[in-house]
Amino acid sequence: MLRDVGPPLFDEATIHRRLGEMAAQITSDYHGQALTVLAVMNGALLFAADLLRRVTLPLQLECLRAASYHGATESSGTVEFPDGFWPELRGRHVLVVDDILDTGLTLHALSRRIRHASPASVATCVLLRKSKPRTVEVEATYVGFEIQDQFVVGYGLDFRGHYRHLPFIATLRQEVLTTSR
Ligand code: IMP
Ligand code: MG
Repeated sequence: MLRDVGPPLFDEATIHRRLGEMAAQITSDYHGQALTVLAVMNGALLFAADLLRRVTLPLQLECLRAASYHGATESSGTVEFPDGFWPELRGRHVLVVDDILDTGLTLHALSRRIRHASPASVATCVLLRKSKPRTVEVEATYVGFEIQDQFVVGYGLDFRGHYRHLPFIATLRQEVLTTSR
């Protein structure tokens, strides 16, 4: 499996160091307030778990599913929230935590859906942001790392369901991307 990936773009120590900085920023920005975190599954599972352990605020954590990548590496263009369940967000300070800002469709659809629920505020936090034009206009409030427009796996990010558990972020070898399983 490790033969499928290139050298780490961000190793475990680098990721954890950055999470410490992001958590300190979030803790300071929301000083005196309580947070409701919506973590987007499955991609943000590892990121949210490690980030939130470092945030010292009163905090509620909710997980929800968003599906926009139905295949391997291409966005389908529509975003679905298949759970059907939405936590109570009225009057809350909501922080969406997702793995990566790519086309922007997921964060855009989520932010719009959340605003309908009359929260006190909405902010977004992603581990990675791809340097590319977005399909829709959306910005992330907190960004871990900026990367080139390339397909990456690990630390929550998958290719066909694989590689999410890698403790680092890496590119996939071209042979793996082009070989269907
Ligand atoms: P969006 O295109 O910004 O809506 O991103 C949708 C989702 O696509 C992300 O939350 C990821 O789960 C997935 N995604 C985008 N780029 C990558 C990548 O490089 N590797 C793995 N998953 C990705
Ligand atoms: Mg994915």
